Amino acid sequence: MFLALLATAEASKLARTPPMGWMSWEIFRCDIDCDKDPHNCISERLYKEQADAMVNNGFAKAGYASIHMDDCWEQKVPPRDPTTKKLRGDSKRFPSGMKSLGDYYHKLNLSFATYTAESSSTCGGYPASAEHEALDATTFAEWGVDYIKVDGCGPTSYYAGGYKAMGKALQESGRDIVYSCSWPAYTGSDETTKPFQTYIDDACNLWRNYNDIQCNWDSLGSIIEHWGKYGKALQPWAGPDGPYGGHWHDMDMLLIGGLTADGAPCVSLDEERTQMAIWAISASPLIMGNDMRNVSAASKAILFNEHAIAVSQDPAGIMGIRLTDGSTPAALTQQVWARELSPTKDGRRRAAAALYHHGGAPPPLPPMPPAGQCPQWTHTQHEYYEACDADNVGTFSGLTVAEAQAACCADTKCAGFSFSNGGGRDNKDSAKGSGYYKGNADCGLTKATGYDGYTKTSQIPGAPPTAPVDMTLDFVLIPSLAGAGAIDVMDIWTGGTTSGVDRSYTASGVPLHGTAFLLLTEVKDKDAAVEAA
Ligand code: GLA
Repeated sequence: MFLALLATAEASKLARTPPMGWMSWEIFRCDIDCDKDPHNCISERLYKEQADAMVNNGFAKAGYASIHMDDCWEQKVPPRDPTTKKLRGDSKRFPSGMKSLGDYYHKLNLSFATYTAESSSTCGGYPASAEHEALDATTFAEWGVDYIKVDGCGPTSYYAGGYKAMGKALQESGRDIVYSCSWPAYTGSDETTKPFQTYIDDACNLWRNYNDIQCNWDSLGSIIEHWGKYGKALQPWAGPDGPYGGHWHDMDMLLIGGLTADGAPCVSLDEERTQMAIWAISASPLIMGNDMRNVSAASKAILFNEHAIAVSQDPAGIMGIRLTDGSTPAALTQQVWARELSPTKDGRRRAAAALYHHGGAPPPLPPMPPAGQCPQWTHTQHEYYEACDADNVGTFSGLTVAEAQAACCADTKCAGFSFSNGGGRDNKDSAKGSGYYKGNADCGLTKATGYDGYTKTSQIPGAPPTAPVDMTLDFVLIPSLAGAGAIDVMDIWTGGTTSGVDRSYTASGVPLHGTAFLLLTEVKDKDAAVEAA
């Protein structure tokens, strides 16, 4: 009885804070050509070099502790050992075997994280764990695995049973193994419909919710918007104290220090700082997707920032969210995100806030020109301006461009139109064609073979402003600091502190896509506290 209780108590210590590590997928993908690319192919050499770099280049000291192997590590043919039916590493690329690689990590005080899937094969087409949960969990435990990412690249109907079976098998494997479940990432993007309690009951310590991150700002920005939109629905399900340990939403890998195939940074340093701030506030794991052998000093400074890491790893484990309403362009342009932190030893409340300059609201458009007066048109070849919410306001066929222009000009609801005279041929103004009248041109240019666009020039949105902005945080916005008096504000990126700030704080010159990342600590008026007592 005592032993059983002890075992549960031990298990519940798993992933009490969001995991910190490094994963191979973002940069090395499924590169298995070790003849051509010996330094970067998925092989024991690559993982050992990354483990060495984690220790020698300062990552381990900063708190990054696990080396995550992703897809494509396995022997593909035959998919399992013919006698034992166990999974195996590719014999050419992992000649020493998985147990030996795990020992290598453990000697360096690092954790061994690997990858499988609840489908018959992984997303990259390698053997996976559906119907083999018990055997595979035991095998991972024998190898000394400390963390398993379980992807899903097969029928979603298998997931409810499969993830539960793997959770049970891991619990029975005799080893503490952090369990990352990709199930919710394959069930659509509406976070309000996902059964988070089930993932927790199945022993998942974290789960991927949404799209894979890619090495560019659009991808990173869209993940931030997703968490901004669904923060309130996600927040209750993150925390340190589940029956099987902590449970966290995984926003996917950090692009900080990551490079494209051409060696250019995935995103700018301002954007890297934004990712670090939003991931820390959101209590998302900090799993790097760079090449730890080659990370610039500037990116390392972001990854190693002890205050940013302390926000991520705050022991209270309360997930932060976007507090500004995202329903208007103005609110989206300048966003406030915040996370409640554990109080100071003497009981003063603390929070972290990110003032994120998302940008993106173009200047307002003038009204449509009066009916019959269309002084200027913009012609775009093989692409047309798409309408956002107002969508199409009509359709036509058998008209020349001039006739369609006359019809659109007569209609003050029409901003322009797409025009096709068929089959991918270049449009000729004299030919009759068909198309759609557009209610606005707000959704940007859409490329389409066989289509041109004709748009009232006045209705084409201008470029969004790119200048830095001053951003003001009104402290009343942060619920966990309600009723606080003066606040000490520390700028996490510059290290500067402003003491005893009343009501609001202004961060000056926040660059586009950048973030002012602030640590807020209540200054308790000791005399007032004594009087109140
Ligand atoms: C999916 C996952 C990625 C990665 C690949 C590997 O796309 O979401 O994170 O593991 O599979 O094939």
